Amino acid sequence: MAVAVEIVKSVPKTVDVVGVPVGSSGAVPRSLGLTRAALALHGFEGKAGQTLLIPAATGPTQIALGIGDPNALTVNGLRSAAASLVRAAGKRATVATTLADLEGVEAKAAAQAIVEGALLASYRYMGLKTDTSGASTITTLSLVAGEKRNAGVRLGAERGSVTAAAASLARDLANTPPGHLTARKMADQAVELAAATGLTIEVFNKDQLLAMGCGGMIGVNQGSVEPPRVVRLSYTPKNPTGHLVLVGKGVMYDSGGISLKPSDAMHAKMKMDMSGAAAVLATMSTLKALKVKAAVTGYLMCTDNLPSGGAFKLGDVLTFRNGKTAEIHNTDAEGRLVLADGLSLGVEAKPDAIVDIATLTGAVLGALGPKIAGVFGNDQPFVEQVKDAAVRADEQIWQLPLAKEYRKFLDSNVADMKNVGGPYGGAIVAALFLAEFVGDTPWAHLDIAGTMDVDGDDGYLSKGATGFGTRLLIELASNFGK
Ligand code: BES
Ligand code: MN
Ligand code: ZN
Repeated sequence: MAVAVEIVKSVPKTVDVVGVPVGSSGAVPRSLGLTRAALALHGFEGKAGQTLLIPAATGPTQIALGIGDPNALTVNGLRSAAASLVRAAGKRATVATTLADLEGVEAKAAAQAIVEGALLASYRYMGLKTDTSGASTITTLSLVAGEKRNAGVRLGAERGSVTAAAASLARDLANTPPGHLTARKMADQAVELAAATGLTIEVFNKDQLLAMGCGGMIGVNQGSVEPPRVVRLSYTPKNPTGHLVLVGKGVMYDSGGISLKPSDAMHAKMKMDMSGAAAVLATMSTLKALKVKAAVTGYLMCTDNLPSGGAFKLGDVLTFRNGKTAEIHNTDAEGRLVLADGLSLGVEAKPDAIVDIATLTGAVLGALGPKIAGVFGNDQPFVEQVKDAAVRADEQIWQLPLAKEYRKFLDSNVADMKNVGGPYGGAIVAALFLAEFVGDTPWAHLDIAGTMDVDGDDGYLSKGATGFGTRLLIELASNFGK
């Protein structure tokens, strides 16, 4: 259910609940009707993330919202506070807050973050539940903003509605079961979205991919009865500030193939192995609405990875779009194979930069844990742009080295390389494999295997797929070439 976001000059009397920010020091807003000492008696000290629900005999329920040091407010802190508000508001339908009116954070950025926090925290994947009792009940978010900040808050709220909707779309796609979202259906969705959001689109089927020399896509798809799809989406504004290419891993279901994964909990998560493609599609859908100045081309590399009598085998050699060859030593290292074709296609247009985003390695989860994605690149200034975008989006990434000395782990007796290295440095070795397909084009690789989902609600993340990377890529595209 879409949440209506409205900007108001004062707290509407009819709302169910109003979130009132309270710092860990300084004055307590009079409207709360409680002193700092009284709040403290209820265990509320204004620390970031704390909330205290204050029932009222008449008028809206108030929720004291901890924001920490009131002199050190940050955009990301406001996003989290808005998420806390929505979670504390429970089943209430209409929610107002004065968070966006706080001085100290620029109005537009503040409002964008608050809308993102509130909308993303209220996200639930309800697509397949007949029992809708678990659905979010919030219908309206009212941001209170006085004269001075009103215009900026309005602009930021509009932007936040777009970015939150995009991240929610990416979550929906990743949460959808593999039988419900095949490569063909993903392409169908892209066609619909492209028409609705001002993008041009081309969809390549199996025969076309064969003709195009996309041996990675064909090889990985070989064991599946579902045909593959590569989707190219293009956004072309007038007088673009630059050209950015995005490539997303769209493995609709990763069983591991002949190198079958064990039947544990991790296996069921592999419906989310298309989270990179979901982030790219969701990002593309926002560019026109956000009046992005750069041209952006997105590639979705969609196929299952399944075992069968026809599946690609260990020892097979695949030839990719750019002519390079790889000997398969593990069919579960399939993401790099579809990305090899995607990166090859992407660099053909000689873009100013290319980014791939992929749930690529369990190793990155081991290295950085579930909250931080890995970033690699061949061009430090461009990697810095990606890092800056990640900070603004509050999607944490950490750069890992593209360590050339590990390239030898990929050496093959029969082909240009193997598709796996040894037991160590798996995220780095995967990135080195990808580097073979970008030439000199400035390139960044995001490994989001660890951050693709969360086990339970956590701030603005809701249990299940996170949509990680969507808002980061929107930020990157929005500032590209400026
Ligand atoms: N899709 C997986 C990576 C993954 C793991 C994503 C956990 C999300 C959560 C990828 O295709 C894979 O299977 N990678 C292998 C590579 C290995 C065979 C070199 C892995 O990480 O084990
Ligand atoms: Mn795999
Ligand atoms: Zn995979």
